[in-house]
Amino acid sequence: MSFTVAIDGPAASGKGTISRALAARFGMRHLDTGLLYRAVGARVDAGEEAIAAARTLTPEDLARDDLRGPAAASAASRVAVIPEVRAALLDFQRSFARAPEGAVLDGRDICTVICPDAEVKLYVTAAPEIRAERRYAELVARGMDVTREGVLKDVLARDARDMGRADAPLVAAPDATVLDTSEMGIEEAVAAAVDLVARARGG
Ligand code: DC
Repeated sequence: MSFTVAIDGPAASGKGTISRALAARFGMRHLDTGLLYRAVGARVDAGEEAIAAARTLTPEDLARDDLRGPAAASAASRVAVIPEVRAALLDFQRSFARAPEGAVLDGRDICTVICPDAEVKLYVTAAPEIRAERRYAELVARGMDVTREGVLKDVLARDARDMGRADAPLVAAPDATVLDTSEMGIEEAVAAAVDLVARARGG
């Protein structure tokens, strides 16, 4: 029987770190669904049409090492408003969720659209200024030439687009546990999530 942990939240909320930690702790597979949209966005920036790119996505597209930067994030958020792009990525995500060892999926519409029957649902969030500061530190550590103001502007623009779109907007599912990491260290946030999953698994 499969066991699914669905995690949604805005950019730099800590959901990626929490998802990786849960997958490692419980031996489950992890899918960062943002990567799918980033890979489609990168192909569009290279001149392709978005819906065709989403329908022909390959594992090599997901392995590109330019997907982690701000340009790919913004391109991802722009293609993510297109319903046909989202529809093309649906089956892959749902079949991933059926992994026999269990699966953790994180993104924007996992609790609401992709895995509404997940055994654990989490909405991870934090104040925009705090998320921007975390993202800024992360990008600087990777040697990227960014400013605090620029990163905050990107975070706010992406929030507005992801939360304001008509198809599968980012919203906390009514039955998701909300984890606000604004005033939490990442270890504390991970511990809270581990606790929740352990209880749901009956251990
Ligand atoms: O999680 P991320 O920052 O890598 O996501 C990049 C963009 O992809 C995000 O701003 C919106 C889109 N996305 C989405 O619409 N649905 C998802 N499940 C995951 C990401």
